[in-house]
Amino acid sequence: MTEAAIIPETKPSTHPMRLLHTMLRVGDLQRSIDFYTQVLGMTLLRQSDNPQYRYTLAFVGYGHNPEHAELELTYNWGVDHYELGTAYGHIALAVPDAKAACDSIRAAGGQVTREAGPVQGGSTVIAFVTDPDGYKVELIERRESGRMTSIADLRKSYERAELNEDASHADPLQQFGQWFGEAIASQVSEPNAMTLATVGSNLRPSTRVVLIKDYDEHGIVWYTNYESRKGQELAGNPYAALQFHWVELERVVRIEGLVEKVDAAQSDDYFRTRPLDSRIGAWASPQSQVISGRGVLIASAARYGAQFLLNPPRPPHWGGYRLKPDHWQFWQGRKSRLHDRLRYTLQTATADHEKQWIRERLAP
Ligand SMILES: Cc1cc2nc3c(=O)[nH]c(=O)nc-3n(C[C@H](O)[C@H](O)[C@H](O)COP(=O)(O)O)c2cc1C
Repeated sequence: MTEAAIIPETKPSTHPMRLLHTMLRVGDLQRSIDFYTQVLGMTLLRQSDNPQYRYTLAFVGYGHNPEHAELELTYNWGVDHYELGTAYGHIALAVPDAKAACDSIRAAGGQVTREAGPVQGGSTVIAFVTDPDGYKVELIERRESGRMTSIADLRKSYERAELNEDASHADPLQQFGQWFGEAIASQVSEPNAMTLATVGSNLRPSTRVVLIKDYDEHGIVWYTNYESRKGQELAGNPYAALQFHWVELERVVRIEGLVEKVDAAQSDDYFRTRPLDSRIGAWASPQSQVISGRGVLIASAARYGAQFLLNPPRPPHWGGYRLKPDHWQFWQGRKSRLHDRLRYTLQTATADHEKQWIRERLAP
């Protein structure tokens, strides 16, 4: 056997490959999901059925690939037991305090098969627990893994891409189109979610997330309740800001400008494309108003459902807004906090009233 090079632990890996997941066959999927989420504190990351080949996959972990390795729980329909044999060893989890982890696992109904204590002939503190199918899970005490939960210690080096004057578009809309397309193609979670900031008449800003539904040279469009807090704030002060944060791509787009309502006909067209429960919901939810309980919503949805059946019209208080950008900013994370920022400012004072964008680099 040839010897593989050993990379020192402190050096970040530059290798393009990643360890993604370990697959475990389980006899009762819900039982296993409960164990890994409720006893070991993981998150159910995604789940899918394959009726043709009669199996269900559930991925669990402490975060998503590629930053975190995941466990793929495979449930073959109708198979409730496996012989584990003698080949399987264990999966290992880093914990900040092995004894505390054993106590909380036991309290949550998990089975501790080896109490926390030093490994034979060493000082590393380990423990073992067993999952519902009998798979062993090793807990390895790593004091620094607890420190990772300190918010101040969360930092990341941004190294995926760069943004520069030569390779960016002169028109910010085209730059946005390219990045939005790349966000969709990269399958980032909810690439269409953007934070909308408005300012109330009391001069206090407020933010919320909305979904972009259209964009072109006239602006960025989203739909909402005109009587909501954002609707009231926009009625008093039509200036707003939008922000996309595509975490996995280490990119942010910030957009500022004046907001107007979209035409009633355009709102009607979009409203018709929404699923029926969303159309009923637009009637049933007095968005941003205090209600006495969830029952109010359920009753209201039932009432409007019975009233409008399959064809609810667009409520007069519901429709689209369009932000007409006069400022754009594109942020690309770079190494050592030397990020790339390009700002585009609209210049309309040209002789032929053509839109002209001034592109400038900002210090990170
Ligand atoms: C991912 C995501 C998408 C959302 N999209 C919309 C949307 O398109 N329109 C909307 O009115 N609310 C949307 N919401 C809910 C808003 O964030 C917010 O709760 C609601 O609009 C009320 O905000 P306001 O009281 O500030 O007006 C979304 C929330 C999330 C988390």
